[in-house]
Amino acid sequence: MKFFVDTADVDAIAELNALGMVDGVTTNPSLIMKSGRDIKEVTKEICNMIAGPVSAETVATDAEGMIAEGRELAKIADNIAIKVPLTWAGLKACKTLTDEGRMVNVTLCFSPNQALLAAKAGATFISPFIGRLDDINLDGMELIADIRTIYDNYDFGTEILAASIRTVNHMTEAARIGADVATAPPGVIKKMAEHVLTDKGLDGFLSDWAKTGQKIL
Ligand code: E4P
Repeated sequence: MKFFVDTADVDAIAELNALGMVDGVTTNPSLIMKSGRDIKEVTKEICNMIAGPVSAETVATDAEGMIAEGRELAKIADNIAIKVPLTWAGLKACKTLTDEGRMVNVTLCFSPNQALLAAKAGATFISPFIGRLDDINLDGMELIADIRTIYDNYDFGTEILAASIRTVNHMTEAARIGADVATAPPGVIKKMAEHVLTDKGLDGFLSDWAKTGQKIL
């Protein structure tokens, strides 16, 4: 499973990238707002750092507007994936932009039927939002499983980009189901390294080591 980082915080991306953990980046208007940076400036900086796809989201609500904004965002770098919402207008924009040879990430997907339409429109990535479904007492992971089954039934090439990931369990489950990509906040990716038995085991080893009075260096 590829790891994308869901943030516009360049320092956080750089830290994970240094460990080889970053296959791509996703941003959205809320994350740009949170960064306090200019969209083109910060996206360019991220694209210079990361070789994989960097999603930058359009904000127009009509297809023509999304297409124009998508073309503008694509000028930032060759690894831009244009993000459009899963509306009828977004699907039109997806078709046009993918026909032009651009990467398109169709976002705000909440149903298997929406994912089916995005694949038919040629999306490079479909972004089903797990956490936001869980928030309203629905099962976000069931959506990932349903899309995996449907895409495999028909050999769709669209990659499932599990999004709105809030917990480390979301990462495990997305990987178990076979999502192609998971995009997660930096904090969730770092938390995947944690285990109480690792901490306990390390404490024990260090305490015994201190009793030996030895040094390695
Ligand atoms: C994905 O591309 C979105 O930016 C993101 O995963 C949304 O997550 P949220 O529901 O935690 O805002």
